[in-house]
Amino acid sequence: MTINVLIIGAGAVGAFYASRLALAPSTQVSVICRSNYAAVSQRGFSVKSPKYGSYTFTPHRTFANRQEAVDSGLLWDYILVSTKALPDVVDDSEILGGLVKEGRSAIVLVQNGLGVEEPYKKRFPGTTVLSGVTIVSAAQTEPGVIKHNRWTRISVGPYLPGAMDGAMATRSDGEKKAVEINRKFVELLKAGGVEDAEEYSHAKLQMVRWHKIAINASMNPSSVLSGGSTNNGMANDPELGLHLKGVMEEVLSTAPKVLGCELPKEFATPEQILRSTQRNTSGSKPSMALDWEQGRRMEIEVILGNPIRIAREKGIEMPRLQSLYALLRMMQENRENRRKEVGKL
Ligand SMILES: NC(=O)c1ccc[n+]([C@@H]2O[C@H](COP(=O)([O-])OP(=O)(O)OC[C@H]3O[C@@H](n4cnc5c(N)ncnc54)[C@H](OP(=O)(O)O)[C@@H]3O)[C@@H](O)[C@H]2O)c1
Repeated sequence: MTINVLIIGAGAVGAFYASRLALAPSTQVSVICRSNYAAVSQRGFSVKSPKYGSYTFTPHRTFANRQEAVDSGLLWDYILVSTKALPDVVDDSEILGGLVKEGRSAIVLVQNGLGVEEPYKKRFPGTTVLSGVTIVSAAQTEPGVIKHNRWTRISVGPYLPGAMDGAMATRSDGEKKAVEINRKFVELLKAGGVEDAEEYSHAKLQMVRWHKIAINASMNPSSVLSGGSTNNGMANDPELGLHLKGVMEEVLSTAPKVLGCELPKEFATPEQILRSTQRNTSGSKPSMALDWEQGRRMEIEVILGNPIRIAREKGIEMPRLQSLYALLRMMQENRENRRKEVGKL
């Protein structure tokens, strides 16, 4: 039976993983495009990667919008969402209306941040949601052109809040099904050459999300607030390096209190993350800095706001994160207000 995958958010991450999934046996990958629709419908995606070489990926179907995908009559096994997570701007779970078929479709989220799964679980309570965290460096340099720079690590786990990890025999049928669908999705990624794809439990995947937040919540806002510093530049600056370490420690000491268990010993420590960033001279900036520089909205809520709120619900404050959040939110709001003023003239 053909496995049908639909990508919503066919930018850097979405198109890169789409191009790998399309190589799995009996798998057809289609995309819903937005600003890159004209380019992709004419020429497909051109992908350049140090690991996989240069190739063209032509989606099975390229849709200009959700309605076209609904009208195609195709039934989707996996709907992978890799838009920028901007819950303060738009609820992207809405786009899945009419596309999710209960009992057949699973939703796969490949996005940074915490709490990204909730809107999908709320809107589609009977549907399996898989939560994905990727460490990859990729960019869409022009419409339909994807530059993969490095790394291919993608960790995927079923989103089963409230369920205890444990022996399969103790799980409900819905949980067993979610674990099985998760396993199959990771197999598809591996079949597409993504050897670093890894299957996780719900609890461990949430630990991976918190650990990634330690990196994103320290580097991303600090780069924007320091005027567009590179990761390497920040890690090598004594004061800024100390600040990054402090933010990472705050996140990593809060995570076990929120999750109710220690983070695995194999996860990199703040010192290890800093040392590797000090050595990485690629000159790369966090995506949030690029979003800010290009006048786009930043993923502030899922990277800063949600961790703060989730911790606060447990009575824990994260003062370093809170300061970054407050400053960045106001910076963004001021820019939006300036734009509105200019629009009025
Ligand atoms: N890039 C990386 O190296 C990297 C690494 C790790 C994690 N991540 C995370 O992965 C997620 C995706 O990031 P990205 O870098 O791939 O972003 P991106 O290149 O900006 O791609 C997002 C894509 O989603 C599209 N989109 C947004 N709303 C849509 C809608 N309603 N309908 C159809 N398409 C829509 C955008 O279209 P438009 O162009 O029209 O806006 C864009 O093509 C983020 O959460 C990010 O933090 C990224």
